[in-house]
Amino acid sequence: MAEERLRIAIQKSGRLSDGSFELLKSCGLKVSRGRDKLYGRVQEMPIDVLLLRDDDIPAFVADNACDIGIVGQNVFEEELLSETHEAPAEEVMQLGFARCRLMLAAPKEWNFDGANDLASKRIATSYPALTKAWLEREGVEAKVVMMKGSVEVAPRLKIADAVCDIVSTGATLDANGLKPVATVFDSEAILIRNAEKFSAEKQAIFDALIKRINGVLRSKD
Ligand code: PRP
Ligand code: MG
Ligand code: ZN
Repeated sequence: MAEERLRIAIQKSGRLSDGSFELLKSCGLKVSRGRDKLYGRVQEMPIDVLLLRDDDIPAFVADNACDIGIVGQNVFEEELLSETHEAPAEEVMQLGFARCRLMLAAPKEWNFDGANDLASKRIATSYPALTKAWLEREGVEAKVVMMKGSVEVAPRLKIADAVCDIVSTGATLDANGLKPVATVFDSEAILIRNAEKFSAEKQAIFDALIKRINGVLRSKD
């Protein structure tokens, strides 16, 4: 019988990528990457690594293409709220890196005075479900404009009045003449898993990995 291997999805490149590789390394796992660079194998444990776009990771894990994944809570929560899967992936644990905030931001010259100022305005975002949920909580009706990237440019192009996007250092907002005005969601990297029961063999690999991750996180406290 072929050896069972646990498949983990991590971000190919971007804010989570380095931290994800670093975590695996701290767990004593070295990823040897194939020439296509989208698939890697771990030598020390029966684990395969898939390198994906972060936005695809929740669906890949939900659909069983991967067993587990490392993704931003923001991306995971957006997927949960948009209810595209009957059995979505499940959050296992927070990983303590790639901390950021999903924030509403407005042009610096806007004398912003609270959520009500957004009434009947247009908000550009890659996170429409999280943004709409926040607007609903605040009791504000606004139009949400979906953009897959370069969201911060929308106000200057008059596509939107404000944006709702990820803020880490704040440099991107600043460079685009925007200022943060409200926090919609606090985020960090999380580990997610497929909702179905693993085989005994896979569960054992999973347990061993979790033990190593917990060891790494504890040593950082
Ligand atoms: C976010 C956001 C900005 C950047 C902000 O992108 O869309 O581009 O980070 O970071 P800063 O506050 O440090 O300038 P993200 O890394 O999530 O990448 P993606 O949108 O391409 O997936
Ligand atoms: Mg992305
Ligand atoms: Zn799917």
